[in-house]
Amino acid sequence: MIAPLSWAQSLRREADCTGILVGTAVRTSQFSESAYATTLVREFNMMQAEDVMKWSTIRPDRQTFNFTLGDQVVDFAQAHDMKVRGHTLLWGRHNPEWLNGADYNPGMLSELLRDHITKVVQHYRGKVFAWDVVNEALDENGEFRSSIWYDRPGIGLAGKGNAYIEQAFRWAHAADPDVLLFYNDAEGEAVNHKSDAIYAMVKDFKRRGVPIDGIGLQMHIFDLQPNVASIAANINRFTALGVQVHITELDVPLPTDASGNLRNPSDLLKQAEIYRQIAATCLSHRGCTALQTWGFTDKYSWIRSFFRGNKGSALLFDNKYNPKPAYRALNQAFGAAGCSP
Ligand code: XIL
Repeated sequence: MIAPLSWAQSLRREADCTGILVGTAVRTSQFSESAYATTLVREFNMMQAEDVMKWSTIRPDRQTFNFTLGDQVVDFAQAHDMKVRGHTLLWGRHNPEWLNGADYNPGMLSELLRDHITKVVQHYRGKVFAWDVVNEALDENGEFRSSIWYDRPGIGLAGKGNAYIEQAFRWAHAADPDVLLFYNDAEGEAVNHKSDAIYAMVKDFKRRGVPIDGIGLQMHIFDLQPNVASIAANINRFTALGVQVHITELDVPLPTDASGNLRNPSDLLKQAEIYRQIAATCLSHRGCTALQTWGFTDKYSWIRSFFRGNKGSALLFDNKYNPKPAYRALNQAFGAAGCSP
């Protein structure tokens, strides 16, 4: 029988004690589900909207800014003394159809993006403490992805490398000089071509005074053998540049059959070990200041639909909110770094 979870030993309690933020992506539609809300409040001191601060939700049409659902995230967080990360102001994906389909010239697109970044950042000023300003701008080789903002047609800086990213950071900083600004991406967790490119960009931005405060390592771990030593070396080189590292979207999908059953039940222990190692790595770097998972219950995780039913069980709690070995491992890693008696 699994011991019931208590406030005193929660992840949140351990994280508060070590001074690191521990967060999760949330779905506002689930706030009314009691087990969801109870677990969320007990275990985390930070949250991020999984989808509802993206263009696809905030901008149903060109004229409208709809902050209703994003505001629900802020209200819930404030009611429970949790911090809010904002996600995301510029991304080539998950944009509304009216934006994708339209025939813009760079001048119009630049004005549209400036206006969006300004209004959204100002709306959440003092409520969101850190923004993923730009999401997934690079491909796995570290080249700039083609997107509406970069080169289709782009905001007037097509072919000029990270100039459009720099512009977005400058607009965000002008809208709220106090909010922390992050570049967030996947596949650059370890030292590789992609993280080399992100590193070069951040180094250049710091040297020229472009307002960037941190990088988000998404950390969707799709195989069960991440190179943790290389991830540690990568975190090390970024923090040495004077930027913070946030682990922003940690999850560890496991192979399942079509009904969602694990192909190898022993994978749960491998998964737990990965969560432990990633947490321990973050906790051992002063500049790694937040660790966030991409959801917390397997009941609501993007993984099953993303992998068309072949993977699942990626998170800390099962469908019934029972803690999995991964939860225990994460909790122990935080406890070992902090103040557990
Ligand atoms: C995903 C959400 O989890 C899904 O609900 C949505 O349908 C698509 O986006 N990288 C990111 C996140 O930065 O915004 C993505 O979230 C997952 C991959």
